[in-house]
Amino acid sequence: MRAHRIDRPADLDVVRDSYDAVADNYVHMVLTTGVGDIRSHPWLKASIDAFADTVGGLGPVLDVGCGPGTVTAYLAERGLDVSGVDLSPRMIENARRLHPRCRFDVASATELDLAEGSLGGVLGWWSLFNLPRDVLPQVLAMFARALKPGGHLITATHVGDEDLVRTEAYGGVPVRWTTHKWRPEQLVDLIERAGLCPVAELRLPAEELTGPGVVVMAKRPG
Ligand SMILES: C[S@@+](CC[C@H](N)C(=O)[O-])C[C@H]1O[C@@H](n2cnc3c(N)ncnc32)[C@H](O)[C@@H]1O
Repeated sequence: MRAHRIDRPADLDVVRDSYDAVADNYVHMVLTTGVGDIRSHPWLKASIDAFADTVGGLGPVLDVGCGPGTVTAYLAERGLDVSGVDLSPRMIENARRLHPRCRFDVASATELDLAEGSLGGVLGWWSLFNLPRDVLPQVLAMFARALKPGGHLITATHVGDEDLVRTEAYGGVPVRWTTHKWRPEQLVDLIERAGLCPVAELRLPAEELTGPGVVVMAKRPG
C-alpha cells in the first residue's frame, strides 16, 4: 500500500482510451516527421542531454508518460538505467515493439508505487498536462519523495492559462482529453511547493505546429 494516495482523475479511463486510439498515429508522426522526437529539436535534446549528464550514475530513472518510448530509449542508449511507464497500453505495445531492449510498464502517474529515495531521476516529458490541476501537485510531491537527495526531475509542458478540451488529435482521431496549460511561474511554484529546487528553465515560443512550451529541471535538495 502506498503511503500517500493520489486522487484518481475522474477522466482517467477516457484519457487512456483516447491515447490508445491515437497511439499508432502518434508513432507514425514521430517516425515519419520527427515531431515528438528530441533528436529533431536541438533545445529539447540539449535539455535531455543535460538531464542525462546530471543523473547518470545517481540511480534508476523513470520516464513517466513515456508514450512510445522515444526518450526512454535515447536515455538507455546513453547508458542510463531507465524504464518507462505510460497510462496507455497501446503506447506501451508500441514502445516494446520499437525498443525491445528497454523496460516498459502500463501505469498511471497517479497509481505508481515508488519507494522513498529510490530514483536518481524522473521525467514527466509532455505527459503531465492531462492531470487535473489539483492532482498535478500530488504527483509532483510523489516524484519529490521518490528522488534520492541530489536526484532530478525534468518536465516539459504546454504554456498558457486555458483548460483546452481536445476532441480530436493526431490526424483527426476522435479523443476526449483536457490539456491543462500552465504558466511557467505557476509550474515552477508547484515544483517548489513539492519540495524540489528548480535548477533550469527553458521557454519555447509557439511554432508552426505547436503552442508555447516550457521545460523545467529541478533537484531534490540534500
Ligand atoms: C504527448 S504524449 C508524450 C509521450 C512521450 N513522453 C514523448 O515525449 O513522446 C503524452 C503521453 O502521456 C501519457 N499519459 C497521459 N496521462 C497519463 C497518466 N495519468 N499517467 C501516465 N501517462 C499518461 C499518454 O498516454 C501519452 O503517451
